[in-house]
Amino acid sequence: NYYAILMAGGVGSRFWPVSTQDFPKQFHDMLGTGDTLIQKTFNRLAQLIPEENIFILTNERYNDLVFEQLPSVTKRQVVLEPAMRNTAPCILYASLKIQKENPDAVMIVAPSDHWIEDENAFSENVRQAFDFCETSDALMTLGITPTFPNTGYGYIEYDKSSESNIKSVNQFREKPDYETAKLFLSQGNFLWNAGIFMWSAATVINAFRKNQPALFQLFEKGMPVYNTEFEDDFIRDNYGKAENISVDYAIMEKSNNVYVIPATFDWNDLGTWGSLYDKLEKDGSGNAVVNAKTLTTEASGNMIRTKNDKIVVVDGLEDYIIVDKDEVLLIFPKAKEQDIKKVLQSVKDKFGEQ
Ligand code: GDD
Ligand code: MG
Repeated sequence: NYYAILMAGGVGSRFWPVSTQDFPKQFHDMLGTGDTLIQKTFNRLAQLIPEENIFILTNERYNDLVFEQLPSVTKRQVVLEPAMRNTAPCILYASLKIQKENPDAVMIVAPSDHWIEDENAFSENVRQAFDFCETSDALMTLGITPTFPNTGYGYIEYDKSSESNIKSVNQFREKPDYETAKLFLSQGNFLWNAGIFMWSAATVINAFRKNQPALFQLFEKGMPVYNTEFEDDFIRDNYGKAENISVDYAIMEKSNNVYVIPATFDWNDLGTWGSLYDKLEKDGSGNAVVNAKTLTTEASGNMIRTKNDKIVVVDGLEDYIIVDKDEVLLIFPKAKEQDIKKVLQSVKDKFGEQ
């Protein structure tokens, strides 16, 4: 009865110029290991879930990339969205399809672009969550010990008194402002949401029914045609009507049956060049290099990547992102990496779609 929803529809704009709208980061070998991020994620999930029960949810424009990179998956497993509406609509839609196929389904919902070091620990945490979801009406998530007031994550306040590994959650708060994040951090019983969820199909569908009635009605209307030849037409006519909202705001913040397992594995959401840099091996001067041959003098802390093992000579540059790709060369201070999103917009305004 185990299923997975692998979310692979994001754009990863802070990884420009490698990640682009046509070829986002989950389809790149960001770590230089030989596998793309979506391949790594698929293999990780296949340790726990029968391969044919792993569904890939993505925008229709990535259809070809999915089949190229995951040649063993069938059409049934690739669920295409005709519009970008963030994670809530796609999770509800896929959950209804899965429930129609198997009313007892228990599932994991996972992003396609994270780095997880210890895959055995990951499997163990998820198995424990699955056991719990099979018998409880629980929305479960994995929690990461926070290290700084990052405003890009969800925060989970768990019940301090709980001695079990599975902790009941007092409050889920998506992307708080900086002051609030600082306050949360100082309390000691807050975790970051890893963005990896576990629940039964019945439970998550109920959560949508209760907290997002409009979204629920929109997708429930399609029940008679899901998994039939009429599904595509229904989705083409209706998907765009869905509210653009993430699962975190749509149900996690609003529900009172949320539980968290503090993750026992190292995690990184590979959201920016700097977070990738942190995870890569460094040369003697602390430069992280992917697909390049480098000669560095008085250069340290740089994140260097080219496309085809280009020779890169760097002198006198510290803590920079240096990324060379076809017609784009980016040289940008790591400290300002969050601004790459904005810079990309300016580039588009000036030079057209990237
Ligand atoms: N199929 C599909 N469709 N996938 C999508 C869509 C969509 O419209 N939008 C985003 N995704 C995918 C992304 O590719 C990514 O793998 C995942 O869903 C999460 O989306 P993000 O846009 O990366 O979310 P976030 O990083 O802002 O926040 C989430 O993750 C954090 C941890 O990395 C939240 O769950 C936070 O609470 C969490 O802390
Ligand atoms: Mg993310």
